[in-house]
Amino acid sequence: MDTHWTPDSWRTRPTHQMPAYADAPALRDAEARLAHTPPMVSAADCLALQSRLAAIAAGQGFLLQAGDCAESFADFSAARVRNTVRALQDFAAALAPLPVTMTARLAGQYAKPRSSATETRGGITLPAYRGDGINDFAFTAEARRADPQRMIRAADQAAATQALLPGSLYTCHESLLLPYEEGLTRRGEDERWYATSAHFLWLGARTQGTDGAHVEYLRGIANPVGIKCAPWTDADMLRRLIVMLNPGNVPGRLTLIPRLGAAAIDDCLPLLIDMVKMEGFNVLWCCDPMHGNTIQTAQGLKTRRVDDIKAEIARSFAIHDSAGTRCGGVHLEMTGDDVTECIAYGDESQLADRYETRCDPRLNPAQAQDIAAMIAGEIVRYSAAA
Ligand code: PEP
Ligand code: CO
Repeated sequence: MDTHWTPDSWRTRPTHQMPAYADAPALRDAEARLAHTPPMVSAADCLALQSRLAAIAAGQGFLLQAGDCAESFADFSAARVRNTVRALQDFAAALAPLPVTMTARLAGQYAKPRSSATETRGGITLPAYRGDGINDFAFTAEARRADPQRMIRAADQAAATQALLPGSLYTCHESLLLPYEEGLTRRGEDERWYATSAHFLWLGARTQGTDGAHVEYLRGIANPVGIKCAPWTDADMLRRLIVMLNPGNVPGRLTLIPRLGAAAIDDCLPLLIDMVKMEGFNVLWCCDPMHGNTIQTAQGLKTRRVDDIKAEIARSFAIHDSAGTRCGGVHLEMTGDDVTECIAYGDESQLADRYETRCDPRLNPAQAQDIAAMIAGEIVRYSAAA
């Protein structure tokens, strides 16, 4: 493997899930402006988070990664951000007295991977919506055009959001839109490179090629990073990703985020855990019970059943317990608004009432509290047994 790394070395690698910008001068202009944008997070805070993640992996505390699936420009308001922060804080409070470290899916969640590059409605096919940082949600050719200026707007909104967050709240998002990430990469006082768009970045489930651009970018930054583990992320592939992203086996650097689904977790997770144990890799395990449990209703709405989410969390705790490892965190899509996007108690009749998400269905505060109470029970059960 070529060990030389620069913030733009990803450009020599195959890219997936990124927009094709038609206007090259506009792209260059946006990139130049991003390079002069003030950092949104400090290297010191990134390293403080990394120490906390190492402590959690060693058994002290719990990680809550949660917030929007996709942040929107139009829906941005201080009240909305504060509501989501309050929902996260309420979730953490339900786990008391366990210390909870929170990384919010906020201030950077502006680019989404899509399972299809296009969307067809009424016989018309247009590019898929890829997040407000890339194109617009409206179903017109003009709206769906990838516009590099949206990266500047995303950076502005991220900075404004960051300013609304309490000091102890860290931020995280998927490292997907690499011109944005590169533009916000800065050298720290320790001479290492840091992503300054968020404290924690993760590798999504659809951009994991070991020779690909996304792995290349993440391997060179000194922030703590995550790897989503999908049913197609086999143990051998995960081993190679871990070696590339954490060659020094530094505790706290790497969080593994399995998102397998309640139906597949029993088949997949034990194999990943066995490999990690056998190799002696230092990782923190954080269960994402959302992305493997997405279903479509007969009306075509994307949703998730709270029961499936709870089932995956319960299996994660149980599987780790039998393996002698620890489920040290949870990764959720939730919002502070009273939306109706996930199905509770098997009742899908109200789903369309307040279905506001731009991408994946989120838990509302009551559903999140239900899950928090369930996790509190699991933690007590397994720590009492230990
Ligand atoms: C997400 O976290 O919103 C996401 C797209 O996840 P994944 O890459 O696991 O599908
Ligand atoms: Co999502």
